[in-house]
Amino acid sequence: MCGIVAYIGNKKCKNILVNGLKRLEYRGYDSAGIAILCNDSTSEGGNCLHRVKVIKKAGKIGALEDELENIDIDGVCGIGHTRWATHGEPTEVNAHPHTDCSGNIAVVHNGIIENYSELREMLTKKGHKFVSQTDTEVLPHLLEEYYDGDLLTSMQKLVKKIKGSGAVVAISGYNHEEIIGARIASPLVVGVSRDGNFLASDMPAVLEHTRNFTVLNDYETVRLTKDKVEIFDPEGKLVNREPFKINWSISSAEKSGYEDFMLKEIFEQPYGVKETMRGRITDGRLNFSELNLSTQQIKNLKKIQIIACGTSYHTALIGKQIIEKWAKIPVEVDFSSEYRYRGPLVESDYLLIAITQSGETIDTLAAIREAKTKGAKIVAITNVVGSTMARESSSVIYTHAGPEIGVCATKTFTAQIIVMYLMGLYLGKIKGYIDDVKLKELIEELNFIPNKIQNILNRANDIKHIANKTCGHTCFLFLGRIYGFPIALEGALKLKEISYIHAEGYPAGEMKHGPIALTDKRTVVVGIIPEDFVYEKILSNIQEVKARKATVVAIATEGDNKIKEYADYVFYVPKTMDELYGILAVVPLQLYAYYIAKNHNRNVDQPRNLAKSVTVE
Ligand code: F6R
Repeated sequence: MCGIVAYIGNKKCKNILVNGLKRLEYRGYDSAGIAILCNDSTSEGGNCLHRVKVIKKAGKIGALEDELENIDIDGVCGIGHTRWATHGEPTEVNAHPHTDCSGNIAVVHNGIIENYSELREMLTKKGHKFVSQTDTEVLPHLLEEYYDGDLLTSMQKLVKKIKGSGAVVAISGYNHEEIIGARIASPLVVGVSRDGNFLASDMPAVLEHTRNFTVLNDYETVRLTKDKVEIFDPEGKLVNREPFKINWSISSAEKSGYEDFMLKEIFEQPYGVKETMRGRITDGRLNFSELNLSTQQIKNLKKIQIIACGTSYHTALIGKQIIEKWAKIPVEVDFSSEYRYRGPLVESDYLLIAITQSGETIDTLAAIREAKTKGAKIVAITNVVGSTMARESSSVIYTHAGPEIGVCATKTFTAQIIVMYLMGLYLGKIKGYIDDVKLKELIEELNFIPNKIQNILNRANDIKHIANKTCGHTCFLFLGRIYGFPIALEGALKLKEISYIHAEGYPAGEMKHGPIALTDKRTVVVGIIPEDFVYEKILSNIQEVKARKATVVAIATEGDNKIKEYADYVFYVPKTMDELYGILAVVPLQLYAYYIAKNHNRNVDQPRNLAKSVTVE
């Protein structure tokens, strides 16, 4: 939520900032702005004072870009921001950067300052003048209040004063050779390169300039100059932290000819799935030592709790089914936002698995912190190396889907499902419920999954056709049973979040307990109907909605001819094992949501009111 980018180096920073913001637009798109230290300076009290030029616009980055087209700024040090509004409407005056009374200190911020009204009152009494309705504006005024010749120490005082979360980055006309940043429980990474140094909310923002990164921990501050990065712990002591290298390619953060990131990312799934299996399945053997649990610890496990939000929550539901089936360990699944407040029971022989593609979702982070205080061992599943979740967990299992830029999760979902399958197999093998024959059979089938997904993608036009025929409907019900149920939830979530059409996911057997009242000729029922042990049951459920004049779209298994008698449209997915069906069935549903949203001219990469990393509660 909100994206920050900052650069200091040898190059002019205007375009670096704007390009960085474009790559961060998925984090917020209500307004955007930059502040640059200009080369011209005046003298104040014998000191050289550089002009801080701030340019900001309401709306998307494109509006800022248009504004900047005819403005020539030579500065090599600047900060930029794209906003997802929390306090104050998405207007130009509320856009970041915000400045102090003198206009010499400019600040960008991502997060929420919970004590901002009391700070604002205190600052107003001291004569500070506020112009916006944002919580952020207290920050430059606080820095101004604390400033005694060193912006870093002012920032360190500020960090101690703030309640809430945030990443804060500031520049000042008093010292044009530095950028100061702080992390107060919101992501901020440091990019290091020969031509200068960067701060950003997320690595893809500056991937075209560097792949060497360092992360900041909570309450740490950082001073960037063009050739130096200094990180300070909460006590102000210098920290020695070496950068790490990430292997994401630049093209992975670009559309590469696709109309949207979402479509590109849907098509990248065979690769993301293969990459996530790579090294974990070799020569028919399973290597999952990352779990970091001894055989005895696994044998002693009494319960697994899985927490997650949104799409990751649907992975958690799949994980529950798989682990209970293959490893026979009871699994509880919770929304992170519920888990953290419901006073969960945690015991020493429980394992907590937190699933989050971004690794920064605040509800999931808060939930693991709560569980940690109760002594739980935490395993994180995330796509982002160095993310807060990765750093705060006892062990991390990375999905290797590559950066996901579209707000809507697609390739990270299928990569997460693969991790759940591998974990289920691994636990099942150690617990003795999966023998070598079964393991071999399952691994062989897993190895076919990327090609089977590719087979579905090759027929994307068939889904497009179904979407074109049904996009005028106003109510969509996604029905599934057992392995199809989490996929029904995911299909509905995808559709509603990018098309803004009402959609519900339901266990098909529950229809008669209420939702069937919604069904009439305006309704589309999307049935996820594998030929598994509940096939006949779901067919009866489909008959019930058909009798009420709903249009039926079936996601069925190749070779199932009977389904044609029940459905108006059928899309076939390749045959696979019952337990693995979900990872195939979700792909046509992602495409279905995509094409319906495109029919309604929606911006699928940046759906309204949503952001990629939900770093506020
Ligand atoms: C849906 C979507 C969101 C996220 C949710 C959790 O397409 O993207 O529902 O799944 O915000 O995000 P992570 O996985 O980053 O914790």
